[in-house]
Amino acid sequence: FQETTFALIKPDGLKNMGRIIDMILANGFLIKELRMCKLSLEDAQNFYKAHAGKPFYEALTQFMANGLCVAMDLVAENAVKRWRTLLGPTNSEEARDRDPSSIRALFGTNNTHNACHGSDSLENAKKESAFFFRDRNFGSCARLE
Ligand code: CMP
Repeated sequence: FQETTFALIKPDGLKNMGRIIDMILANGFLIKELRMCKLSLEDAQNFYKAHAGKPFYEALTQFMANGLCVAMDLVAENAVKRWRTLLGPTNSEEARDRDPSSIRALFGTNNTHNACHGSDSLENAKKESAFFFRDRNFGSCARLE
């Protein structure tokens, strides 16, 4: 059956947005919602509140608030698992060893700058999608930096 997951192109992935979207479509996902937005530091802290207190939290939230993101709802059979498979391992350096054709291997840099995010469960996909598409309006800017 069809399910919906949440995908986010992070600021470091933005310059490869076209290639990332090509891979999403070539892998059979339907893009149900899409928007570009700029997170404030507070938005980024809220989005990643599950990681508050971890050693990488500060760098992660600063990075996420320091450019534009592209939020998407992706529909497919088994979408949560399939999107995470297409992403590859969290750490882009590890991804290049283990899964060189994955999105993080191709477009990310390291453990924090890893091009894209994907929800880890259907429940989190619903929450994360609501955060970007329902809970509030984010500022956006059409200029790619
Ligand atoms: P993401 O899928 O967005 O979910 C949490 C993010 O935290 C993750 O991708 C990485 O960007 C970052 N992250 C997770 N683990 C680490 C780590 N050990 N060191 C640095 N950054 C991390």
